[in-house]
Amino acid sequence: MGNDLKLRRWQESDCRRIYDWRVDPDVMRWCIDQRMFPYDDHKRWFFGFLADSNRYGFILEDAGEAVAQIRFDPAELPGCYRISLAAAPGKTGKGYGSSILRLACQSEEIRDCATLLVAETLTDNLPSQKIFVRNGFFNAGHGRSHGANFICWLLPLAVVHQPVLLQFLAEPTWLEDIERMLSATGLALAGDATARVKIFMGTAVSDEELYSSVLLHLNIGESALLDLALRFPADLKLPVEFYNPLLAVAQIAASLLYLQQN
Ligand SMILES: CC(C)(COP(=O)(O)OP(=O)(O)OC[C@H]1O[C@@H](n2cnc3c(N)ncnc32)[C@H](O)[C@@H]1OP(=O)(O)O)[C@@H](O)C(=O)NCCC(=O)NCCS
Repeated sequence: MGNDLKLRRWQESDCRRIYDWRVDPDVMRWCIDQRMFPYDDHKRWFFGFLADSNRYGFILEDAGEAVAQIRFDPAELPGCYRISLAAAPGKTGKGYGSSILRLACQSEEIRDCATLLVAETLTDNLPSQKIFVRNGFFNAGHGRSHGANFICWLLPLAVVHQPVLLQFLAEPTWLEDIERMLSATGLALAGDATARVKIFMGTAVSDEELYSSVLLHLNIGESALLDLALRFPADLKLPVEFYNPLLAVAQIAASLLYLQQN
């Protein structure tokens, strides 16, 4: 890796490059969705992506040569973004993956739009896990989709002056992991019955609770599912599906912070 690294936004002329990198067998084997797709479908998706002001794609150049790419798509809740990235075929293991992740997460565009970044890596994708750990992401446990097992990663970006207070009504076994995640990310504090936001994890909601606060109801089954959100301060298309309960709680806290700040 040279000393002449530059991060720039995707442009129209990157369309073919992004497709060629994505369908390269050495990249494809690490994607959660490994279905092949024709170039015309990619082209439609790519130009839609460029036209969407809520999506961000970056290329890393080393002395003018494109060596890695990363993109940020809105995740399940407001203020939360999902990362996917790859080094150019033949350019892995040279530090470009870690560099583009660091530079893009620190970019003004991403700092302005996101309070939380999330990512998923296949459980056997060790290089990818290394770069997320190196860049300060928190390991939020496992998830499963498209028949694949993966690890979920979280990086809070918000400067939290006052963490959100959340009351959890859940099995103690859930709470241990949640409290570990909250103390590592600083996104929220677990509070008592006076907390304005209550999260019911698979528990029934009483009439009294229904009318007293912001309520979020997480169904915990195969995946975590947010199926009831009363007085949530933004429109949610319910149900919202998550890969695991930690990811759900982190996004709930981060989206409440985001909505307070915007
Ligand atoms: C994951 C990816 C983006 C990482 O980028 P990269 O430029 O290769 O990563 P870096 O060179 O910055 O770091 C890779 C680290 O993994 C290590 N590594 C490489 N192969 C490894 C292996 N088989 N087992 C363990 N560690 C390995 C490298 O030694 C390096 O660690 P080190 O710096 O401590 O030595 C890149 O490998 C890639 O594009 N892979 C295919 C697509 C992909 O997996 N995308 C991520 C899906 S979320």
